Amino acid sequence: MLNVNKLTSLEEELSKASEKGMKIGLVPTMGALHNGHMELIKQARMHSDYVIVSIFINPLQFNQAEDFMNYPSNLLKDSDKLKNAGVNLLFNPDAKLIYPKKPSVKIDFGGLSHKLEGRFRLGHFEGVGLVVMKLFNLIKPNVAFFGLKDLQQFVLIKHIVKEFSYPIKLEGIPTVRGENGLALSSRNTLLSPSGIKIAAQIYKGLIWAKNNFETFHASEALKIQLNNFYQTQEGLSIEYCEVLNSNTFKPLKSLQSGKKITLCVAAYVEGVRLIDNIFLRE
Ligand code: PAJ
Repeated sequence: MLNVNKLTSLEEELSKASEKGMKIGLVPTMGALHNGHMELIKQARMHSDYVIVSIFINPLQFNQAEDFMNYPSNLLKDSDKLKNAGVNLLFNPDAKLIYPKKPSVKIDFGGLSHKLEGRFRLGHFEGVGLVVMKLFNLIKPNVAFFGLKDLQQFVLIKHIVKEFSYPIKLEGIPTVRGENGLALSSRNTLLSPSGIKIAAQIYKGLIWAKNNFETFHASEALKIQLNNFYQTQEGLSIEYCEVLNSNTFKPLKSLQSGKKITLCVAAYVEGVRLIDNIFLRE
């Protein structure tokens, strides 16, 4: 595996791969790799010929300096994992390469970037959108892999690909979970063993909602019951819990319309922010 942090070396490798007619697969990450990331990489190996993984902790998508400072990082361990997984190239740029100066252009990604995650993490999706566009422009992948755990992020990137006409195929990969149901996340490493147990209740609530949503008419009633359950979990603090139309990602009032429905939750455990979601009706 090549470990590249300069543009010239990246371009050299990319042109060698494209001369050979190889299909380039990109998996963008912020490192602290876990089995969720590794699943994306496995899919990338299956659906492309040359797999690039980027590791870049993007300062622009953190709305709190403390969150950025505490974000876990372990490049040596990550690099070993990627080598063993058969990744061709690790792109690990420093912040100066990605942002030679403070970006003077600010793209407003519209309504989608202002709600749910965007509402509670101001500027988050502008940061995500910008860095993903930069990675797309620098690497020009044929296919890019993203996790459905960050569903709103995936929907936003789908919009970007469409609106900016990127000739890139997107693959959304289902959420990988631990045995207790907790969605794997780099942030889980910041939790204590008892914090992990509390965090696992997030998914327990989502599963309950999936099994019971059809007995409710209004989303509001489902949300109230779910919040009641979450409130009984000591140490778990819910930031939002939203029922959405899976296609438009707009809030859905009725659960009986036959539409595809998604439930998204954000919560804090031991000061660590976690998100999860479930498709209620697929
Ligand atoms: P990061 O949180 O490192 O996640 C990288 C990719 O792994 C994302 O597409 C995310 O949805 C996916 N992922 C994380 N946990 C997962 C899980 N349990 N199962 C399946 N996929 C999972 O998301 C980001 O980084 C950044 O915002 C990024 C897109 C790299 C832009 O900076």
